[in-house]
Amino acid sequence: MNKLIHEGSHAVLKAKGSICVNLETNWEICEKRIMLTLTMLLTLVVTVLSQENRLNMCMDGTHHKTQPGPEGKLFQQCSPWKDNACCHANTTEEAHKDNSYLYNFNWNHCGIMTNTCKQHFIQDTCFYECSPHLGPWIQKVNSSWRNERILDVPLCREDCETWWNDCKNDFTCKENWHTGWNWSTGNNQCPKGTECKKFTDIFPTPQSMCEKIWSNSYKYTTYTKDSGRCMQMWFQAGENPNKKVAEYYLNNRSAVTAPGSLLLMATVLLLLF
Ligand SMILES: *[C@@H]1O[C@H](CO)[C@@H](O)[C@H](O)[C@H]1NC(C)=O
Ligand SMILES: *[C@@H]1O[C@H](CO)[C@@H](O)[C@H](O)[C@H]1NC(C)=O
Ligand SMILES: *[C@@H]1O[C@H](CO)[C@@H](O)[C@H](O)[C@H]1NC(C)=O
Ligand SMILES: *[C@@H]1O[C@H](CO)[C@@H](O)[C@H](O)[C@H]1NC(C)=O
Repeated sequence: MNKLIHEGSHAVLKAKGSICVNLETNWEICEKRIMLTLTMLLTLVVTVLSQENRLNMCMDGTHHKTQPGPEGKLFQQCSPWKDNACCHANTTEEAHKDNSYLYNFNWNHCGIMTNTCKQHFIQDTCFYECSPHLGPWIQKVNSSWRNERILDVPLCREDCETWWNDCKNDFTCKENWHTGWNWSTGNNQCPKGTECKKFTDIFPTPQSMCEKIWSNSYKYTTYTKDSGRCMQMWFQAGENPNKKVAEYYLNNRSAVTAPGSLLLMATVLLLLF
């Protein structure tokens, strides 16, 4: 009788899956093992899929779409993103205006900003609002005007250096443009105790400007635009070169953590079987 039950359950196990076939254990333990194995495989699949999503996503910002997609009518400097964008067309038109309703930000807080300089701030706005490939650098943030931000996006050196060079003759009163302004008029004004100085006095190097101006949204790198290791604020219409860069950073990051988690999984499985 006992033998019969044993052989019977053995047959069930054989049918359920090969994992338990050669094991002299009872059905309950074996079932647990199957469940555990399935859970681990599921975890692995979810990890891979969520990385896939991070490659093509929109941050939870003030004006961002929920999902990236084609936008036929992106305005002027923002038009390279038209095949796949996180911005609406109206956002990109507004991005080209002074004191736009986007953030009521006043570029001219220390006299009129020159057009050579301003084009970089417009491009920076396009990049921030439209880019669908910032996933690896998106962080949750506790802020009144957005739920997520970007942190340490590796910027190509040309984009940072031309930005700084083209703004050399402009003026500002603050290093971090995210906080500390006097908003009493509705637009940002220089707060009391600050004075307008040349950009180069506030930001002695391209690195200091790119990193400090938006509280480390960007990270200065010495990578050039052809390296595939840095994000391009400026690129020609056509394929967005930043997708491959985001992919690289996602894979590279998982290459560091994946062997660790795989080893852990293998150890757990070995201990259980
Ligand atoms: C911009 O356009 C989108 C969709 O086309 C719309 O949902 C949004 O309300 C518009 N924003 C403003 C400020 O007009
Ligand atoms: C965000 O800030 C609010 C108010 O300062 C606080 O109550 C809340 O716990 C914070 N949330 C997180 C996730 O830090
Ligand atoms: C803010 O600006 C208003 C209007 O210019 C001024 O009256 C006020 O003193 C300023 N406050 C600070 C803290 O700078
Ligand atoms: C990518 O991986 C290589 C080697 O595994 C490492 O040296 C490099 O710092 C990594 N780069 C980034 C950006 O994480």
